[in-house]
Amino acid sequence: MNNKTNKILISESQIKARVCEIGKRITSDYLGGEPVMVCILRGSSIFFADLIREIDLPVTIEFMSISSYGKSSKSSGHIKMVKDIAIDVAGRDVIIVEDIIDSGYTARYLKNLFSTRQPKSLTLCSLLDKPDRREVDVVGEYIGFNIPDEFVVGYGLDYAEKFRNLKDVCILDPSYYK
Ligand code: IMP
Ligand code: MG
Repeated sequence: MNNKTNKILISESQIKARVCEIGKRITSDYLGGEPVMVCILRGSSIFFADLIREIDLPVTIEFMSISSYGKSSKSSGHIKMVKDIAIDVAGRDVIIVEDIIDSGYTARYLKNLFSTRQPKSLTLCSLLDKPDRREVDVVGEYIGFNIPDEFVVGYGLDYAEKFRNLKDVCILDPSYYK
């Protein structure tokens, strides 16, 4: 694939090991429960598919689609729900699964939205976190990797809808957006 200039930041095997650890942690934190795992499309789809298979609990899976970025590499802060989940989560343990927390606008939007639906509990799990870029105060309870302020692609993350199918998380070569 056209990936000659994107440098690997987190390799496939590092991702695999970490996803396994997060799955084990969620399994023990929710022991005896049946959490609803919400995949935020499309960025978290690959992470989500791997993560749910590392969780040894009767999970329910739901999908929500959000748009915020368009083709830019910067957050607009304007978040729109494109597709909602299909079930009522009142009284349920809800785990939102995201690809990355950057400015934090999307994560805050999602946490606020789900907290109005009376879940029994609500947590956010994100593969990646860029704490240096945070503009609003929001935390992820389960974070795969803290990364530096670089635009990354692969393992579900895109730049203008490209590179989602790379197996590693890579730093996007700046020549793509300059
Ligand atoms: P936030 O609202 O600024 O926190 O951005 C969250 C969303 O922006 C993520 O769900 C991603 O879709 C996208 N995003 C933020 N940083 C990156 C990146 O480095 N690569 C690819 N997508 C990103
Ligand atoms: Mg995106």
